[in-house]
Amino acid sequence: MEVLTTEMNWVPEVASNFANQVDGVLWFITWISIVFFVLITILLVYFSFKYKRRTDNDETPHITGNETLEIIWTIIPSALLMVIFVYGFVVYKDMRTPPGDAVEVSVTAKQWLWVFKYPNGQSTINELYVEHNRPVKMVMRADDVLHSFYVPEFRVKQDVVPGMYTQLWFKPTKVGTYDLFCTEYCGSGHSEMLAKVYVMSPEAFTRWERGGDEEDSGVAAVAKSPEDLGADLYKNKGCNACHSIDGATGVGPTFKGLFGKNEPLQDGSTVLADENYLRESILIPQAKMVAGYAPVMPSFKGLLKDEEVDAIIAYIKTLK
Ligand code: CUA
Repeated sequence: MEVLTTEMNWVPEVASNFANQVDGVLWFITWISIVFFVLITILLVYFSFKYKRRTDNDETPHITGNETLEIIWTIIPSALLMVIFVYGFVVYKDMRTPPGDAVEVSVTAKQWLWVFKYPNGQSTINELYVEHNRPVKMVMRADDVLHSFYVPEFRVKQDVVPGMYTQLWFKPTKVGTYDLFCTEYCGSGHSEMLAKVYVMSPEAFTRWERGGDEEDSGVAAVAKSPEDLGADLYKNKGCNACHSIDGATGVGPTFKGLFGKNEPLQDGSTVLADENYLRESILIPQAKMVAGYAPVMPSFKGLLKDEEVDAIIAYIKTLK
């Protein structure tokens, strides 16, 4: 079992307190299935030869029942199912019971991005920052449709539902960067609804909490030109889920050739897509709606720093 789980990478890396427990249940059930699959297949082949009809006069024996056999094949599977249930339930109970000292992070899922709000008031988009070995509890809601929060390395998955809070908790046990997937089909941008989880050492996390600056966190480093930063933000902040850069029509207008263009608005007027219009559209998307598009874009007010808005505009300018 150890060989299968670690050396062959049949399951993702182990990076939370639940990973080994969940893998334990998974392998337990898998091995029971393998044993019965092999046993039944061997018996099937063996019996098909042993009880083969050999002459035209062979008669099928008349069997009415076998109490001992029936008791055995009832009791063994029932006992196994009870063991699977109890084992699974013990792990499930742990996963549903956050410890009292867990840090609470509020999660909002919307088409098509993740917003995280931390106890100190900080917010991030598509980037979740957590401290190594410190339990965190996600209190989650959706703004529009069903989404689902899934981090394979942590073995946690929970639907995020409009109109109610759902929650999950975990303790990250390994410093590193992990992928967070939306794992409930939620519309055309579903496959782009990705985020990163940064598990940081306590020192790095404190620096990040105080400064809120990624340079200090040791996560993202090198200084970038506004255009390059904008290109990164386009992918990391979820712009790419709705706005193409190749002219293709999406949920929102394409970024290609957008800067300097006269955009027709829903009220029949037009607006010049200059710096101020782009900035307004990022911060207050419904202020001037481009004709033919639904008012679905979430506001990025408070979620992007001024320099980040600058960078995205600089990036849009490069898309001629
Ligand atoms: Cu959100 Cu799929």
